[in-house]
Amino acid sequence: MNGIKIIGTGRCVPSKVVTNDDFATFLDTSDEWIYTRTGIKQRRYSTDMMNYEMAVEAAKNALENSGTDPLEIDLIILTTCTPDFFYPSDSCLVQHYIGAANAACIDINTACTGFISAVDMARRYLWTGDCKKILIVSSEFLTRQQDFTDRTSCFLFGDGAGAVIVEAADKPFYSCLGAKGDPLEALYCRVNYESNMPLEGFKDYDKSIRHILDTPEKNKYLKMDGKAVYRFAVDAMTDSFAKVIAKAGVNSRDIDLVIPHQANQRIISSAMKNMDVDESRVCCNLADHGNTSSACIPTILDELNRAGKLKEGMKTVLVGFGAGLTYGSVYMEL
Ligand code: UT7
Repeated sequence: MNGIKIIGTGRCVPSKVVTNDDFATFLDTSDEWIYTRTGIKQRRYSTDMMNYEMAVEAAKNALENSGTDPLEIDLIILTTCTPDFFYPSDSCLVQHYIGAANAACIDINTACTGFISAVDMARRYLWTGDCKKILIVSSEFLTRQQDFTDRTSCFLFGDGAGAVIVEAADKPFYSCLGAKGDPLEALYCRVNYESNMPLEGFKDYDKSIRHILDTPEKNKYLKMDGKAVYRFAVDAMTDSFAKVIAKAGVNSRDIDLVIPHQANQRIISSAMKNMDVDESRVCCNLADHGNTSSACIPTILDELNRAGKLKEGMKTVLVGFGAGLTYGSVYMEL
């Protein structure tokens, strides 16, 4: 029963709302196409906050919600695939701005699976006894990575952050993580580099090294084979859901609450149908937020928590997938 308890939640929702009709003003698309293919109506864009600033706001809200003094936090795990800097990590910036001087700081990137990976990791730190309270904060500024000339992907994503504070609890907890390494076919975004190395100063370098040092203009944004990701997503969500409830020894019909990664309503519906889970037990905020990568699940947790809908003992499954390709699931009783 080496489980965890979520003692507080928080989120940061950027104020700028971007509707499907906004995309139709510069792309050959429509509200009807986007909504029927994805379930997305609108998304939020950060116009005045860096990634770490959204994380700080979500973290402060979670601290306040749980009544935790920042000095009690032993570890900050920040998940993001859109960091502000190569270094310092965004978790270190969060530590500074929330005043969590006793915390160790780790950023992880398993793309949209990030929050699930972080929960898995946090529980291990809690049960070694090394940490008593851990802040997990997932923050994503995906607007940065979009190719706004690509009508097949740019409308899918939004920005935002969600956070939880967890501690050890004598409750059931099982997790299942996995990956299927993708050779840059299904989904990737290259790091943007631009070198000012004076090649004339380095006699044995020829100019062709530029293709390693710099990011070519056409390669600066997210690239996706939507259909390949879709197929992977339905299978990965179904498989990891099935594995985690098998570990827990429970039936899918006994699950009270499912919070899936929010990428496409059709992906979620197919996976839930495969698992025989009634949609009334599945929580989504896709219509209003789009895909906010690893921030999706903690943002929904905060929405539910503040609405008084997270009840002690609820049998809960978190399940997701992401670039990598990665996937994972958690079964926990709240
Ligand atoms: O966190 C992981 C991130 N990524 C994902 O989860 C993406 C997973 N994939 C998907 O969600 C879906 O594959 C998409 C929403 C991206 C695309 O939906 P689809 O049902 O797979 O559409 P499609 O790519 O098969 O395109 C169908 C048609 C095509 O036209 P033709 O070839 O049938 O004439 C596209 O050119 O729709 C066209 N199309 C569009 N039409 C209007 C593609 N994008 C658009 C658009 N507006 N934005």
